[in-house]
Amino acid sequence: MTILNYLYGFLPHFLLENNRSVGSMTIRSGNFGQLQISFYVPASVKFMDNKKSLEEYRDDFPALKQLRNGKPPVYMDSACTTLVPQQIIDAINDYYTRYPGCSSGRSRHWFADEVNDRIEGNPDKGIKGSRCIVADFINAASENEIIFTLNATHAINTVALGFKFQPGDTVLITNMEHNSNLVPWLRLQKTGRIKLDYIVSNHEGIFDFDTFEEKLKNSRVRLVSMAYTANSTGVSIPAKEIIKLAHFYGAKVLLDGAQAVPHKKVDAQDLDVDFLAFSMHKMCGPRGVGVLYGKKELLGSTPQEENSGTDVIEPVFLGGGTVADVTYKDYSLLEPPKRFEAGIQNYPGQIASGATIQYLQNIGMERIAAQETKLNSFLTKELIKRYGDTGWFRILGPRDAAQRGGILSFEVHRPNAVGIAAELSEKSNVMIRDGVFCAHAYFNEQFGQGWAHPRSHAEHRMIYRVSLYFYNTIEECRVFLETLDEIFKERSYI
Ligand code: ALA
Repeated sequence: MTILNYLYGFLPHFLLENNRSVGSMTIRSGNFGQLQISFYVPASVKFMDNKKSLEEYRDDFPALKQLRNGKPPVYMDSACTTLVPQQIIDAINDYYTRYPGCSSGRSRHWFADEVNDRIEGNPDKGIKGSRCIVADFINAASENEIIFTLNATHAINTVALGFKFQPGDTVLITNMEHNSNLVPWLRLQKTGRIKLDYIVSNHEGIFDFDTFEEKLKNSRVRLVSMAYTANSTGVSIPAKEIIKLAHFYGAKVLLDGAQAVPHKKVDAQDLDVDFLAFSMHKMCGPRGVGVLYGKKELLGSTPQEENSGTDVIEPVFLGGGTVADVTYKDYSLLEPPKRFEAGIQNYPGQIASGATIQYLQNIGMERIAAQETKLNSFLTKELIKRYGDTGWFRILGPRDAAQRGGILSFEVHRPNAVGIAAELSEKSNVMIRDGVFCAHAYFNEQFGQGWAHPRSHAEHRMIYRVSLYFYNTIEECRVFLETLDEIFKERSYI
């Protein structure tokens, strides 16, 4: 009976699809003898995808199919935002075309049910919702620990503004932070709510545990908030050890996982992290959706904020969707995560977030990490071979590409060092990023404030960042290398 149920469930689906390949199944039964069933397997069926090579996944990305000046895009700016596969575009379009309603937390009709099923799940229909898919992906203990936000920045601000700091509390960050994990704390410091302090990692990105422990011991550190992987160098901090030590001294830990979660397996329970922030747009997903993971006991459980514990974060925004009941005198909050998701949500984005994670899981996070290391090692070796000892060319962070994930940032310290990113794009459609990558403080400290606007051309130095993902290829790396070489020759750098 079980096998028949299985077939009844799946056969109509197979037949309705635009079929690509044939499979067959043999059922043996004492009563009916042997029954051979042939069926078509659509290319979109998940288990078939495991056989795809990374090269074949490139077919999923419409943006890679365009030509400009007869050449395809060579996209190497994935740390900023990634390309989007057709499957995710379809998931977004599906919402707008088929069930463009609110979720059933609000309305009672079938559009609302369709939305709700895809976000919160529906076991009766065998649908796993996005919230659950996200929770499983990072190994959260429960889907109720997953708050949908606008992006990682919004998630970090949710903790910064919701955490109940007492005057004299310290927040500890690193010297490598992106503005999103710096400016919210600077503001709290300016208004006297916290003291902000930071740990300096050396050029190789080695974390300074001695200073860290000293600061934990000697200041009242309530929260350690650090980028798991730095967006400027690609170096990851030893998060598990940092969290263990922070907990020993009674501090909570927020990890900015924006550059980590898309690239490797991140296990919230194994890390024992208290809060984890990341963005879907950096992992082939929709723009405008992020995630804040928070341990259940830190998200609150009482209907009234004032009754919740000292380490519990309070919701920053309140309104529709966050409350159980309201009078003109008072309100009671819904349980987390809903109390943190005020107003009409980005339903297509939240729905597509589940599809995004399934897409990545289908490829395999280990495969993604291995491909980034392979490409980064190739590029690093070639760049060092070509320009490594010239003095004006420097790779940021460790030379060992395996320690930098998919990120390769380099400094060009030559007259008129600006404009190389635009030239790469014009000449060969190679897209990389230049500037300070929203890590102003780090670069200002390295080179001195105002370094980006030197008085003479001769003093120019620029930082360029190549950031790779699983869809990049060795062939693309060669296009980048050859075009860079051409530019350096035209500028008489070599
Ligand atoms: N955080 C993004 C980057 O590093 C914007 O490019």
